[in-house]
Amino acid sequence: MGTLRVAVINGPNLNMLGIREPAIYGSETLAQIEANLKSVAAELDATVDFFQSNSEGDLVTQVQKLRGAADGALVNAGAYAHSSLALRDAFAAVSVPFVEVHLSNVHAREPERHRLVLAGAAIGVVCGLGSYGYEAALRGLVRNLRAVK
Ligand code: DQA
Repeated sequence: MGTLRVAVINGPNLNMLGIREPAIYGSETLAQIEANLKSVAAELDATVDFFQSNSEGDLVTQVQKLRGAADGALVNAGAYAHSSLALRDAFAAVSVPFVEVHLSNVHAREPERHRLVLAGAAIGVVCGLGSYGYEAALRGLVRNLRAVK
């Protein structure tokens, strides 16, 4: 199958990681998560391409661009994970397999965070493991794409 191209899509407020509510989201920045994921990707014969936007429309446009350009994706849609049918539809439109990631355990938080509208279309969901969740999700995605299940 060769080197796998993995897109990492991050939604609103994830550019504030490191500063934002560290008791919930940890002290690592998105740049640090990206650096770690790049070294894990190299180990797995994969590449990761990071994207972050606070805007739902820009996220939809980015997902549309994945068609033919990515073998799989990791998605932390931030609060849009709880509401965005548009993002779910974008993934359905491009048929790119993805794993959903949340740093916090959304199921242990407020009820309005329990509903995950993308999750039903995902290979799997990783939540509550902090920044390691991105690494766990990448390892799981690559295993799945290489059909070692
Ligand atoms: C989050 C959880 C969401 O509920 C929240 O809106 C975020 C971050 C997480 O990674 O834990 O922005 O996706």
